Amino acid sequence: MDSNIFDKFISQKTLFKNKENLRHNFRPATLPHRREEIDKISYNLWEALKGHIPSNMTLYGVTGAGKTAVTDYVCHHLKEKGDSMGRKVESIMVNCRQIDTQYRVLSHIGNSLLEAHEQDEIPFTGWPTDRVFNELVRRMDRRGGVFVIVLDEIDHLVRKAGDDLLYNLTSMNSSLKSARACVIGISNDLKFTDFLDPRVRSRLGQLDVLFKPYDAEQLQDILRQRAKSGLNEEALGSGVIELCAALAAQEHGDARCALDLLRISAEKAEQVGDETVNQNHVRIAQSQIESDQMTPVISTLPSQQKLVLASVIINERNGLRNVQTGQVYDIYRQACKHIRQNPLTQRRISGLISNLDMLGLVTAKTVSKGRYGRSKEINSSIPSNIDPQQIMTAAEEEMGVVFTAHYNHQTSL
Ligand SMILES: Nc1ncnc2c1ncn2[C@@H]1O[C@H](COP(=O)(O)OP(=O)(O)O)[C@@H](O)[C@H]1O
Ligand SMILES: [Mg+2]
Repeated sequence: MDSNIFDKFISQKTLFKNKENLRHNFRPATLPHRREEIDKISYNLWEALKGHIPSNMTLYGVTGAGKTAVTDYVCHHLKEKGDSMGRKVESIMVNCRQIDTQYRVLSHIGNSLLEAHEQDEIPFTGWPTDRVFNELVRRMDRRGGVFVIVLDEIDHLVRKAGDDLLYNLTSMNSSLKSARACVIGISNDLKFTDFLDPRVRSRLGQLDVLFKPYDAEQLQDILRQRAKSGLNEEALGSGVIELCAALAAQEHGDARCALDLLRISAEKAEQVGDETVNQNHVRIAQSQIESDQMTPVISTLPSQQKLVLASVIINERNGLRNVQTGQVYDIYRQACKHIRQNPLTQRRISGLISNLDMLGLVTAKTVSKGRYGRSKEINSSIPSNIDPQQIMTAAEEEMGVVFTAHYNHQTSL
């Protein structure tokens, strides 16, 4: 009888106790090294349990610093306490990377306040914004109590759609009659308040909490705690947690990255039938994560685009930031000379730089140079482990192929 391809997985010993516990959206029972942040936020939200309006807050910090996890954790406890004290407090968390217009955020919050028997959802689109806003106010008043509105990754929405949403939500208390509201904005970008109208900035910035990146030792504690419930005890080889933590700390103290490393390392070990995860698996996992992140986008770029991207990075590795098109063009020309290709014009390269900007591989900001006109300030936005030489070599190989194909074609004529 034919065996089923899944049989081998069934008989295989698993290294995981519960893989879900190593994923991002798992809510651990405690959050090591975030005591201070939790205290600050919960001290402020304690006002809500007394029926007062908490201050608005802005939480800042690099990705993976625990901002979402901490906020979710505090809001969960707040709700629990509110229920046991018979106080009406509700928190509503919106991810503004996924829900990224003012209209959609307002309608999303409004629809989360629909009573069970009601069906009149605010439509996905079509109403004037102030009608959505008024409906939201009406529903909040109907429920009453204090609302904590959390706008996660708000920098994303503000950059895209401006600060009207923040303006409206932070002035909501003047429209509300029986309910109260406060706003928590969470941002990965430390400079995001630069984008805000000064009035919005001062209203939202009543209380700032900065989340510092984790260091390697803190990441070790976080990983150990998650590994305890996620992995089988015997499965963890020596030095694995330390290595995952060290690599993630180099990145920028990103707990998400550390967790990914640990989970994928264990998967790698499991796939080859090893009984413990070792440091070698971590290295394999790391290189998989790196190549997953970048290569598809870069490797499918047209050759000329690759050369331009490599030129930006080479400038940068030589210590130049905010380079101008001319400086990129200089390196690009040298590269073309090196591989015996005719360079495109500077005008064309400027267009290719804009394309790279659209793909998110570089940022090209137009700045005014007063009477000298306008010019671009170009920086790469790819991780530091990407090797420009490798991109250059790939372009070279592709162009070499084109060149010989063309040549052969001609000689055969
Ligand atoms: N102190 C911590 N203890 C346990 N897990 C943490 C801690 N900080 C972050 N994490 C975990 O790391 C991942 C990323 O954290 P997250 O809160 O999403 O970061 P941010 O929102 O700052 O980008 C999540 O899976 C989260 O559970
Ligand atoms: Mg987050």
